[in-house]
Amino acid sequence: MTDITLAPIQPDQPSHLMATYGRQAISFVRGRGAYLYTEDGTEYLDALTGIAVCGLGHAHPVIAEAIAEQAATLVHTSNLFEIPWQTAAAQKLAEVSGMEEIFFSNSGAESNEGAIKIARKFGTQQGVRLPKIIVAEQSFHGRTLATLSATGNKKVQDGFAPLTNDFIRVPFGDVEAIQEAALQHPDIVAILIEPIQGEGGINTAPQGFSYLEEVRNICNQHNWLMMLDEIQTGNGRTGKYFAYQHTNIVPDVLTTAKGLGNGFPVGAVMTQGKAVGLLGPGSHGSTYGGTVLGSRVVYTVIDTIQKENAVENAAVVGRYIVDQLRTQLADKNVQVRGFGMMIGIQLPKDCAELVAIARDQHQLIINVTAGSVVRLLPPINMTQAQADDLLERLVALINNYL
Ligand SMILES: Cc1ncc(COP(=O)(O)O)c(C=O)c1O
Repeated sequence: MTDITLAPIQPDQPSHLMATYGRQAISFVRGRGAYLYTEDGTEYLDALTGIAVCGLGHAHPVIAEAIAEQAATLVHTSNLFEIPWQTAAAQKLAEVSGMEEIFFSNSGAESNEGAIKIARKFGTQQGVRLPKIIVAEQSFHGRTLATLSATGNKKVQDGFAPLTNDFIRVPFGDVEAIQEAALQHPDIVAILIEPIQGEGGINTAPQGFSYLEEVRNICNQHNWLMMLDEIQTGNGRTGKYFAYQHTNIVPDVLTTAKGLGNGFPVGAVMTQGKAVGLLGPGSHGSTYGGTVLGSRVVYTVIDTIQKENAVENAAVVGRYIVDQLRTQLADKNVQVRGFGMMIGIQLPKDCAELVAIARDQHQLIINVTAGSVVRLLPPINMTQAQADDLLERLVALINNYL
C-alpha cells in the first residue's frame, strides 16, 4: 500500500486544474455499492453513479479483484499483439449487443468519433463526396470537435467554430422532419440518435421507442446507416442490455462507454450488417483501446451484470421507483419519466440548487439536467431496500422544495 496521504483541499487553495467543471466542495474517499463516504465517514446515497458509469455500484468486489489481479500481472502490450482478454470481451459484448464487430475505445466521445468515421467511409464508398449525418435537437454526443458539432446544445459549441460540416439537425422524435431532410439533402448517409436523451433531460420520443422502428424503416428506405448512441443508455441502464432492445430493430452502428467499465475508462463502437468491414487495417486505431487491463474489466463487468441479473433488476426496481414517485408526488406539479435506472423528474421550475440541498440536507447525490429535470442514475443492481431509502430522501427533498 502507498504511504502517501493527501491533505484535504482547502477552499482558498490555488488549483492548477483547468476550470472546465464547476465542482462541488465535497470529495469522497470511499464507496461501497450504492453509497459514497467522505473522510469523516458520512454516508451518502449515490443516485448518480459518476453520471451513469458505476452501474454495478462502487468498489464492486469482483471487479476490484479483476482490476487488482490484472494490474499486478499485465496492464498493456498494444494492439500490435493478440490480446486474448480483448477477444473475449468482444465476444461477450457481441452476445449482449447483437452486433458483429467491435472496436474498443476509451470514452464515449471517442466511440462516437468512430461512428462518424464509419458513416463517412460508408458514404465515400458510395460516391458521396461530403456525406451528411442526421442528428437531433437537445442531443449530447461528446466534446471532441466532431461530437460537439453533432451535439444539439449551443453552450457545448460556443466559441469552438468552425464546427464540422457533417450534421443536419431535426427535432427529436420528428419522423417527418427526417423525410423532409432526405428530400433536401441527397448527401445524407446516416442518422445518429440517442434512444433516450440523457443530458437533454431524460427525453423519450413522443411516440416512445416506436420512433426507433420508424427511424430504422427510413434508414432502410434510403440505404442510410442507423447509428445509436448508447453511451448512457447502454449496459443495462434502461432495463434492457441496450435500450434499442425495447424494440425489434437492430441498429447498424452502436456506441457505448460509461457503464461498460463501471468506472474504468473504456468505450466501444460496434457494427453489424452493412456497416461491417468499413474500418479496415490502418483506418482507425487507439493506443489505449482495448488494453489487457481494460478488456478484462469489460469482460468482468458484462459477466457480473449477467450473473447478478442486473439488467432485469434495473427494469423491476426502476419501475418500482417510477411508480412510487408518481404516487408519492401525485399532488405536486411534476412529471416522472424514464426506463429502468434512468429516471427524470421534470419540475415546474429551474432547480439546479436541488443538487446542494439534496447533498447537504438529505445526504443524497443527484444531478439536475436541462435546467429543471432531476436526473436519477442509480446503480442498476440497486436493491429494493436501497430504492426505498432513495425514495424516502427524494420525496422529502421535493416535498420541501415545491
Ligand atoms: C449520450 C452520450 N454520448 C456521449 C457522451 C460522451 O461521453 P464521454 O464523456 O465519455 O466522452 C455522453 C456523456 O455524457 C453521453 O451521455
